[in-house]
Amino acid sequence: MPVTLASLQKSKEEKRPLVVLTAWDYTLAPILDEVVDIIMVGDSLAMVALGYPTTLPITLEQMIHHAQAVKRGVKQAFVVCDLPFLSYQESTSGAIRSAGRVLKETGVQGVKLEGGYPLMVETVANLTTIGIPVMGHIGLTPQSVHRLGYRQQGKTEVEAERILREALSLESAGAFAVVLEHIPSDLAAIITSKLSIPTIGIGAGSHCDGQVLVTTDLLGLSDKIPPFAKSYLNLRQVISGAVQQYADEVRTHKFPLVSPNKGGLGG
Ligand code: KIV
Repeated sequence: MPVTLASLQKSKEEKRPLVVLTAWDYTLAPILDEVVDIIMVGDSLAMVALGYPTTLPITLEQMIHHAQAVKRGVKQAFVVCDLPFLSYQESTSGAIRSAGRVLKETGVQGVKLEGGYPLMVETVANLTTIGIPVMGHIGLTPQSVHRLGYRQQGKTEVEAERILREALSLESAGAFAVVLEHIPSDLAAIITSKLSIPTIGIGAGSHCDGQVLVTTDLLGLSDKIPPFAKSYLNLRQVISGAVQQYADEVRTHKFPLVSPNKGGLGG
């Protein structure tokens, strides 16, 4: 059964943890689609698939290009595409145009945007009013890396209160879920208990309604993973071993196998 907004909401009510992973292409997407609830075409693809140092340089066109590839490989999961930096912050009409283009041109079911009170809350309200499902993203917001760094957020009482207020305001504005990134787990637990929509944690402890990982981290394809992530496999080593074996076999004439078939020019 395809995942819908209603089934995501039901998971929260029935306390069934939501499984979320990122994807950026048609090779990976169907593999994840067999297992996860939400596939996120996160702008982290700027760093993990395109080699940029931060998520800031990626454009709306590039996000659309990757979201189209992912969506072509998905049958069940709910697919959410990140709105990239400066595609939604300048004005509400700009945000509507960007989010609308993502939905129209890729077929994904929702968009995610970073930030909260007050500007983004207003933007989320406008997007949801015209029927665009929006996932919020607060706490550590990587598009603000030059201001926040990659440090844990919400450690002081003032910050924690602001993040809680932002979460509540995003829910009131109509967001269907909120990503909580790199905040203390007791703060994530409070937010999760106060919201009626699902919280999706990354570096926010075990009390969220769901968890998201960047798939290169899970697979062990990244050079370095954040302290809160987990690799379930060292795919970098597996690939490197296979590539080395192939190179050795080509260099020692073991691959391809000598064929008994003779072509037209074979004596
Ligand atoms: O860009 C991304 O991949 C994300 C998730 C890790 C939440 O925003």
